[in-house]
Amino acid sequence: MRFEIDDLIRSDIASLKPYIVKDVPYKIKMDANENPYNIPENIKDVIAKEIYNHHFNRYPDPSAFELRQALSSQLNVDTNKLVIGNGSDELISYIISAFGGNKTGVIFPTPTFSIYGIFADVWGTESIGVPLSKDFELKQDEIISKMDSVDKSIVFISHPNNPTGNCFSNQGIMDIIEHESKSIIVLDEAYYEFSGNTFLPLLDKYENLVILRTFSKAYGLAGLRVGYMIANESITKQIMKVKMVYNINSLSQKIALILLNHKDQMSGYINQILRERDRLINGIDKIDGIKQFHSDANFILFRTNTNADELFSAFLENGILIRNLNEKGLLENCLRVTVGKPEENDAFLTILESQ
Ligand SMILES: Cc1ncc(COP(=O)(O)O)c(C=O)c1O
Repeated sequence: MRFEIDDLIRSDIASLKPYIVKDVPYKIKMDANENPYNIPENIKDVIAKEIYNHHFNRYPDPSAFELRQALSSQLNVDTNKLVIGNGSDELISYIISAFGGNKTGVIFPTPTFSIYGIFADVWGTESIGVPLSKDFELKQDEIISKMDSVDKSIVFISHPNNPTGNCFSNQGIMDIIEHESKSIIVLDEAYYEFSGNTFLPLLDKYENLVILRTFSKAYGLAGLRVGYMIANESITKQIMKVKMVYNINSLSQKIALILLNHKDQMSGYINQILRERDRLINGIDKIDGIKQFHSDANFILFRTNTNADELFSAFLENGILIRNLNEKGLLENCLRVTVGKPEENDAFLTILESQ
């Protein structure tokens, strides 16, 4: 019998497209909301010692206990309320695999972080996007009516929202949290260290709340893939059933811990990025034909009154990679730039001014 892949693949997976990150040449990378600074030398020295003494031959601690303990004391939450993920991406997948499925809606405002919809598809769960208003505010009443239209739901809110950059009004989010329905409400606080705005204190009051955070942005550890979930034990217990046993490699666990132990030093970088964000905002403001949107994160969304595809190409020709989000609808002619080092931001502004 001939091997036919179409006979074997799940029909709902067959129709999906893989998430492809295009490999384009660049000199300055301002496209992925990463921290522009590599880990400082003194911390690299500590990591080097760790590498030298590391037991590479042993499996990692499946519960990442040491890291959870450190997070637990910094965040003042019980260790049982923490699950570590291979990036918060993995935790998004776990949440949908555990709580999704038939008759469940994965609900999120659009535009937002694409991974929510991607994993809803992967786990055979209906994904329901609810467009934001023109000024990128949450339409909570529409989200609530979608929550009521399904048996149960998982609502994802990126806070601040990627790619628009803003935190939605707290009241809008509270309306969703307080709405009586069978829902898990996930507040994805990947950019929390830049916004300073969190729903964590509400965890004790609302059993169905999940907070996601990551070491990929403010902590500059995107390459090592470490994210974490904070949720009540009734939720984390279920997530532990779907978690890959050894999901976080032992070196990533150690390095994340080392960074947590240098939190004050890392805060210096966050402040530097925030200062540079303000400088970028002021610079963009002076340029005719560009409208920028409020940012609570380490990136800025802006719209050109010319053609965004051409502007994106002009940046790339000058070695600067930003993110082209141009598509019909709310993001028409929009691009997103990640705050870089001062000289990178200068280069960005020079190109933008010259167009
Ligand atoms: C809102 C949001 N959540 C999660 C992530 C992914 O983070 P991680 O690197 O921890 O998987 C991103 C990355 O861009 C993001 O923008």
